[in-house]
Order: sequence, then C-alpha cells, then structure tokens
Amino acid sequence: MTAIGTLRNTSKDTLHEVLTRLQTEGAALGHFNVADHVLLKAVIAAASETKFPVFVGASEGEREFFGARQLAALVKSLRQESDVPIFLNADHTHSLAKAIEAAKAGFDSVGIDFSAVPFDQNVTRTKEAVQVVKAINPAILVEGEIGDIGTGSEIHESAQADFSKLTTPQEGRQFVEATGIDILAPSVGNRHGMLKSMVEGKAKKHLDIERIGQIKQATGVFLTLHGGSGTDDEHFRKAINSGINVIHINTELRVAWRESLTDSLARDSNEVVPYKILRPVVESVKQVVSARLRLFHGESVRPSAVGTVA
Ligand code: G3H
Ligand code: ZN
Repeated sequence: MTAIGTLRNTSKDTLHEVLTRLQTEGAALGHFNVADHVLLKAVIAAASETKFPVFVGASEGEREFFGARQLAALVKSLRQESDVPIFLNADHTHSLAKAIEAAKAGFDSVGIDFSAVPFDQNVTRTKEAVQVVKAINPAILVEGEIGDIGTGSEIHESAQADFSKLTTPQEGRQFVEATGIDILAPSVGNRHGMLKSMVEGKAKKHLDIERIGQIKQATGVFLTLHGGSGTDDEHFRKAINSGINVIHINTELRVAWRESLTDSLARDSNEVVPYKILRPVVESVKQVVSARLRLFHGESVRPSAVGTVA
C-alpha cells in the first residue's frame, strides 16, 4: 500500500506516470468535481492533508460556471505550491469544440463522452477527438466512455441507468483499439448520482467486479469508474484490485457542500462575511475528500468518516 510521503515532491510527474505507479501500488487516483472555489480549496486541502495525489475534474456545466481557462490557471498556480501531484480533467466533454477548448486551456486530460450515441458513432467521434486533442498536446490523456451510467451528479428519486447495457470485454477491446483512447470508462454497475437512501447511508451501490477484471484483461488500458458516490467501500477496494485506476466522486461533495452551507448560514443570520460563512464548508467537503482518498489508497477509514456524507 502507498505509504504516506511516497508521492511527496513528485508534482512534476505526469498523469500517466502517477497512474502507472498507483496501479503498481494497488491504489486509485481520486477524481473530485469542482464547480466553485470552495470545492477546489477543499479538494486541494484534502490532498495536502493526506499527501495523496488528486485529479480535479470539471464537467462542461462546471467549466462554464467556473471558466475553463480560469480553472486551469488556478490549478496551475496551486500545483506550483503543492508537494503532491494535482491534475485537471475536462470531465464529460460532449463536443469537439469543448475538447479543443480544454486542451488549449492546459487540462491534463479530456474525458470524451459520446456514450449517448450508438456505438459506431461513438467510435467515430471519439477517435476524431483523440486525434485533434493529441495534435494540440500529445501529453494529454484522453478518456472514452461506453455504456449507460445515467446522468446527473444529483439526488435521484429512482435509479437512472439501464443495467442491461453493461460494457462487455469485447466491446471494451473494440472501442479501445478503434479509437486510440488512453483511458476507458465502462459501465460496470456504476451510475451517476445518489438515491436518497444512499445519502442517508442506508443503501450502497454495488459493482460487477468480475466484469471489471475481464474488461481490464481485454483492453489493457487505464480504467475509470464514474458515479462513485454512495458506492460500498469493499466494492471500491475490489474494483481497484480488479483494474480500476481512477474513481470519480461528485454528488457526495455536493451534498456536503449544501448541508454545511445551510448549517453555516443558519448559525448566525447576521453573519455576512463570506470567508467566515464558507470556511466550515471547505472543511466539511475536505473531510469527505480525505476519507475517500484514504480508502482509495488502502488506508483504513474511521467508520464515521464515510457512510454518511454530511
Ligand atoms: O464524472 C463525475 C462522476 O462520475 C461523479 O459521479 O456524482 O455519482 O459521484 P457521482
Ligand atoms: Zn461521470
């Protein structure tokens, strides 16, 4: 397992190098979405606290709110002061134009997501995106997605994904070979968002661990697990051991952000100083991120730190 300090002073390492090293160590890179500076501060604080590398992610909507170039500039600045690696991903990119924008802004990776269109079109459009992004910067890693994992890092009333469309190892291999992607995001029982019962800690997501192992063997590329919020801890560990290299968590952070902001505002209705209101929000989200990072790196986590996400 990764010892604390192993990854210190390696912030010059590339994303590919860090993913390769973590794979050898039986760990996964935690990917956490940010939509504002509070969330970004929390993710960086968790990396600094745990000494584990982090992957900061922003979907098209999050990039639009934050500003893709502004987020990239902030991450670049934070990286210069960090003793742990920090990477930036253009998560769930649905158009070539947005992929180009992210590549030119300095993102370390682009997650191409044409999973909603038929397989053949997904192959054609993802392949084109890989070529265009790599022409801008060959060092950028490109992720492709297949299968249905539902949409929306939100609290859902009912399950969003169609589990009849789980990725097969054959599809995975065909997709990787035809597109030239560096990272594959398959559908393996994962799904975006959380049910209310998951937010309350009464239910957990479960993964098809055997399928993950088969897809890894068939493709040989890095694998990303989307929709990580609310997943059973043991399934996370087994998924990493079976070949998952990156784990995306968003809804858990959003729930912590909202709950702690609500509490903070309610504490004193006369408080108007933003940094006094927002400081506990950063702390609360940081605790969620740190607990997930420790789990992804094989450290035992206090039972109170996960299970409920507030
Ligand atoms: O790309 C983002 C993730 O897949 C997050 O999913 O909201 O279920 O954690 P989640
Ligand atoms: Zn996702």
